[in-house]
Formats: sequence, structure tokens, C-alpha cells
Amino acid sequence: MSAALDPARSVIPSDSDLVRAARGLPVSRTPVWFMRQAGRSLPEYRALRAGTGMLAACQDPDLVTEITLQPVRRHGVDAAILFSDIVLPLVVAGVDIDIKPGVGPVVATPVRSVADVDALPPLEPERLVFLQTAVRQLVAELGPTPLIGFAGAPFTLATYLIEGGPSKEHARTKAFMYAEPEAWGRLLDRLAISAATFLRAQVDAGASAVQLFDSWAGVLSAADYAERVLPHSRAVFDGLGGGRAGEDRVPRIHFGVGTGELLPLIGDAGADVVGVDWRVPLDEAARRVGPDRSLQGNLDPAVLLADRATVDREVSRVVQQGRAARGHIFNLGHGVLPDTDPGVLTHVVELVHELSVSPARP
Ligand code: CP3
Repeated sequence: MSAALDPARSVIPSDSDLVRAARGLPVSRTPVWFMRQAGRSLPEYRALRAGTGMLAACQDPDLVTEITLQPVRRHGVDAAILFSDIVLPLVVAGVDIDIKPGVGPVVATPVRSVADVDALPPLEPERLVFLQTAVRQLVAELGPTPLIGFAGAPFTLATYLIEGGPSKEHARTKAFMYAEPEAWGRLLDRLAISAATFLRAQVDAGASAVQLFDSWAGVLSAADYAERVLPHSRAVFDGLGGGRAGEDRVPRIHFGVGTGELLPLIGDAGADVVGVDWRVPLDEAARRVGPDRSLQGNLDPAVLLADRATVDREVSRVVQQGRAARGHIFNLGHGVLPDTDPGVLTHVVELVHELSVSPARP
């Protein structure tokens, strides 16, 4: 039975295992959810999405609600993550972006100059009514299960705007960052404001936690990240407002891929929880981020394509190494791969719960 439906586990979302782990409080068992848990690994998602474009789906509150709930019902994960995309704030503001199947976000007119930066339209909060409707519907449906709201971090969004689409090296992005430091600062300022507006709308409507995705920040040196990116990510968290962690504000998760060298900085940007990919074991990551932050991660998503014995061994290793952290939210090191057997995801949820059940908080 899923945690969401089990009356014995009924708590309010703000006192759920996910929120408690994020704050470093004792939990009944390690909470688990998966990045990209909604999406192409689920046949019910493919059925519901048939005939509707990705960006249209993201702006339809009933579709968003249903797609977000699908993995909660199926897997019994300890959190829902809003079905949306990091480019949505730009799309809603009026930037011409499409999400091409199997490719990712493609920008019609890439940002390559100060004039391009200044021409970017601001995100008016009034345009986010559809988002708040979806969040309110979800909070009502989810009961005790927390909803995670999210946004893309300024750097990762800048890579799409400047490259014009997905890229591996992000060379144009870095060239712009070095050659046009003022325009770079202005671009990231704007992206920080729109990310904060997007997150604020979700929190105001009832999201219990937020995750800032800086997926591609790992391509930067620590020095460049600290000087040219971190202040803008911090501005997103600052723009969210609220009190200190553990009191009157929702926990903040901050994630990027290949960020082993950046982990302490990712935390310093204002996270309660640092997301870790599979490259750095969680006990080592705990040393790097220090005792004041929790960790999220970090099973290699490719492990889920291997045999059951390998899956079980690796899940158990991650649960074990996660004990070194102040608090641990089990997740993958990056998103669910489309070919993943959904049955394996359900099995991982059950196994994490079994391995981590604690008598401390029955
Ligand atoms: O379940 C969830 O995690 C919530 C939904 C979610 C999506 N995108 C749905 C989606 C989230 C949190 C994102 C974030 C996102 N989008 C990120 C950061 C996370 C990460 O993976 O690093 C990034 C970089 C993007 C940009 C983006 N959007 C990419 C690279 C792609 C994949 C392109 C492809 O088709 O392979 C998308 C499209 C996208 N976003 C899909 C989904 C379910 C696939 C769309 C489809 O079903 O056709």
C-alpha cells in the first residue's frame, strides 16, 4: 500500500519524513522519490500525453495534476514532484521555446548579446494562475504526501538560452560568461528573478519543499561557479523569502550533475539539502557539505537497468552510506531513464523503506 494511502502513516506534509529528513530531524524511514519519476518510464504517462505537446501539457492544470499523481499511486514514493519543466517560466513569459521529443528545449532566437538579454520579457506572476491551480489540486489530492515544487537555476537556464538548445560542452555559454561579464550578470539576475517568482507561486499555493535544478553547473570550475554563478542561485533562494530552515519556510533542495568539486558551494548557495549524483559516495559527500545540510541521492539511474541482485546491492550501499549525512532523502543521481522498468522503481521504494525502518519514530 502506498504511504499516501496508508492511514497508519498519516501525517501532515510539513511533518512528513521528506521534510523532516531535509531539516535533519529523525524519520520513521528514509524517504524516497525519483527525479523524472513522472514521464516516459510510465505507460500511463505515455497514454495520457498522446496527442498533447509537452509545453501544452505543462500548462493544463488537470493534466499536470494527473501526471504528477501517477508515480505516487504506482510506486508509493514519499513525495510528488510537480510535472513541469525548467523552461516553463521562460515560455510563460513569452520566450519562443519548444521542447522537441528526444532532444529537449530548443530556443528560436538564442541570447548572444546585451540587447538579447534586455529583450527578454519578464515573468508576470499573474500568468501563473494555471500553476497555482495545479498545485492546489495536488495538495488536496496528496493528503499527507508532500509536493515538491521546482525551478531551473539561472546557470542551467542560461545554457539553453545561449546555446539555443541542449549541448555537451556549453562552450558558447562559457565564452559569453568570460567575454561579456556584465551581460552575463544581467542575464543571470533576470533568470534568478523569474525562478524565484516561479517557486514562490508554488510555495504560496502549498508546495512543501522546493528543488532548484542546476543540472549543468558541474561543467564549471569551483572558482568560476563561486564568482559567476553562486550569487545568482543564492538570489533565487533569497527571493523566496521566509525564515530560517526548520521554522517557517519550506526546505530547499539544490541539485546538479557532476558537481563533486562544487558540493560545499552548492550548499552555501542556500540549500538545506544538497543533491548528489552517483560519482561521489554519500559518506564522502557528507564530509564535503558538512554537518549542517542533508543529502539527496545518489543511485546511478543505469543501475536500474541491471539485474535484481545488482539493484539490491547498490540500493543497500546508498542507504548505508546515506547514514553519514545529517539527513538522507533517497533518490537517483539523475533522472529516471526512459527504458527503466517501472516495476524496478516500485521495488526500490519498498527496499529503501525496508532497509531504513527506524524504531525511533514509529
Ligand atoms: O518527474 C519529474 O521529475 C518532474 C518533471 C520534470 C520534467 N523536466 C519533465 C519532462 C522535471 C523536474 C524536469 C526538469 C528539467 N527539464 C531539467 C532538470 C532536471 C535534469 O534532468 O537535469 C532539465 C535539464 C530539463 C530540460 C529538458 N526537458 C530535457 C533535457 C528534456 C528531455 C528531452 C527528451 O525528450 O529526452 C525535457 C523534456 C521533458 N521534461 C520530458 C519530461 C517528462 C520529456 C517530454 C516527453 O514526454 O516527450
